[in-house]
Amino acid sequence: MEKDASRQIERLCAEIRRHDYLYYVKNAPEITDRDYDRLFSQLRELEQNHPDLITPDSPTQRVSGRPLDEFKNVTHAIPMLSIDNTYSEEELRAFDKRVAKGLETLQYQYVVELKIDGLAISLRYEDGRLVLAATRGNGTTGDDVTENIRTIKSVPLKLLDGDVPEVLEVRGEVYMPKAAFAELNRQRAEADENTFANPRNAAAGSLKLLDSRITASRNLAFFAYGLGQTSREPALGHYAALQKLADFGLPVNPNTQKAKNMDEVIEICRQWHQKKAELDYQIDGMVVKVDRFVQQQALGSTGRAPRWCIAYKFAAEQAETVVTSIDVQVGKTGTLTPVANLEPVHLAGTTVKRATLHNFDEVARLDVRQGDAVIIEKAGEIIPQVVQVLHQKRKGNPRPCKPPANCPVCGDPVRKDENGVYIRCVNAACPAQLLERLKYFVGRGQMDIEHVGPALLEQLVEKGLVANFADLYRLHFEKLVQLERMGEKSAANILDSIETSKPRPLWRLIAGLGIRHVGGQSAEILAGHFGSLERLMDAGLEELEQIDQIGPVMAQSIYDFFRNEDNIAVIRQMFEAGVHPEKPQQKSRGKQPLEGKTIVVTGTLEHFTRQQIQQTIKDHGGKVSSSVSKKTDFVLAGQEAGSKLAKAQELGVTIIDEKQFREMIHYG
Ligand code: IVH
Repeated sequence: MEKDASRQIERLCAEIRRHDYLYYVKNAPEITDRDYDRLFSQLRELEQNHPDLITPDSPTQRVSGRPLDEFKNVTHAIPMLSIDNTYSEEELRAFDKRVAKGLETLQYQYVVELKIDGLAISLRYEDGRLVLAATRGNGTTGDDVTENIRTIKSVPLKLLDGDVPEVLEVRGEVYMPKAAFAELNRQRAEADENTFANPRNAAAGSLKLLDSRITASRNLAFFAYGLGQTSREPALGHYAALQKLADFGLPVNPNTQKAKNMDEVIEICRQWHQKKAELDYQIDGMVVKVDRFVQQQALGSTGRAPRWCIAYKFAAEQAETVVTSIDVQVGKTGTLTPVANLEPVHLAGTTVKRATLHNFDEVARLDVRQGDAVIIEKAGEIIPQVVQVLHQKRKGNPRPCKPPANCPVCGDPVRKDENGVYIRCVNAACPAQLLERLKYFVGRGQMDIEHVGPALLEQLVEKGLVANFADLYRLHFEKLVQLERMGEKSAANILDSIETSKPRPLWRLIAGLGIRHVGGQSAEILAGHFGSLERLMDAGLEELEQIDQIGPVMAQSIYDFFRNEDNIAVIRQMFEAGVHPEKPQQKSRGKQPLEGKTIVVTGTLEHFTRQQIQQTIKDHGGKVSSSVSKKTDFVLAGQEAGSKLAKAQELGVTIIDEKQFREMIHYG
């Protein structure tokens, strides 16, 4: 019996590991997410019944239960060097000359890799098992972040069988994909927490957490790009070694290329400079490496950086513009956020008119004032922000922008948070907060109610027609048509959209409630776990804390939300008005509309964020791919679709728009 279980557990572990490999390394999964989850639950159940058979490298053992007190120091067996940087093609050619001179031959090749914008990590595998993960630190000594690294699903805890050296140190980059970064910052902004300036800071911040349960929720990823100490070199050159690492089950960037000479290197660099926005993660340049290990050794290093390797960095895309005014926005939990209105300027594919200034500390640090010329940049190529004020261009003596003492909307005195960084309006009846909560509720990432935009909500709040979410579902035609510029047709459309939202999936309703710290992703986890809002409302703190990926802070916030009588009353009223969220399991009945389909998404969609569309495709049985090929079943093209759309046209791949997609999945 015990033996049977042991064999079954071993078999399931191996199978799950293989599927992780197919998903994360090969980018070619063989089973649906649901089938994968089924395997995972089987394993978890068996292990629960036989706890003595749990091994540390089981796929269920990624997240440890208890936070650390501190990180231990680790001395690297081989120092983790840095790389020399260049910003110009001339310097790349000069590097090539030095290589040719150093090797006294022209018989060498380069490997050209993407320079992933994350942080360097060393993973040590002994007998194929991950035993240590350390940050670079000062190059000689770093932090032991094994617990946190174990939570990264693309990092194998056990390598695939094969000729894996006894000791294998793998070096690579931990990074946060753009979608995860955008989602994390959205959640943090919503929860009145400091947002991260870029995906690299977000990745670094997530690895520095002592509680690996929080790291687990951050969706970090990893690419291997080199070796540290090894008991045996797995190949003669870098390119072949990377392929070996991929064979061992490690994620290696698929865009790595060999180049015969510097002309080819430069061509590849130029191409990626052009195409970098298409990637799902941020790169800040390219890394060029001499391929053969003997040649690398012959060139040696300067102590700080190797002579066989150079980083070609892309200058960050920036634009200069002028701050026309500085607004103070009131968030749905009352936080006051300064926002710069800008003279419209084109930056990395979009026209930017506004940029967040994060908080008043940042305003003071930048010393930004109305009329200032500023440099803006996009954080993670997504969120525009002011990075520099050109003080030398300032005309006259504009007044400094001071934190307000009163809420700009309701006029009540404001309060500083514990850290003294955020300023908040604490008037629960502040109409600005109500308006923000409503805007969020109807937003495309939540209940997605078409035709109910900010202008209409403003009127509804002002006229006293809507004072909570439930009131939306109690609106009457007669009242609506009396509003300014409201025709009968529009009023009917509005009521129609509100009606269509009543059976929205449960996670959308949970997300829409605006519970602090709970974003779309957490809402999905909660919906999946509880299956109904009633069960979630009744959940005890302990049960909430035990849910995978729900940290203690979020658990407390959820618990508190449902202990508030006003919140409960509004939910009851919504139910009475006919809101009946679709239960998560209803989706999985019968054949899935996108079963077996590989879909590439490009451009901006109206009803889904990046993360949501990926989840929705998966939920309906489809597979999301990031690049268009002949194997792509269709390309879903939104606004401002770029080169992926062109590629689809070139290959004759079916292109659909958002409306067609929504019809496919029967989304109202
Ligand atoms: S090779 C001795 N390859 O860039 C060579 N580094 O600016 C070690 N990085 O510390 C690094 N992508 O964190 C290498 N494909 C890549 C990389 C890469 C990102 C980072 C790495 C390094 C930093 C240097």
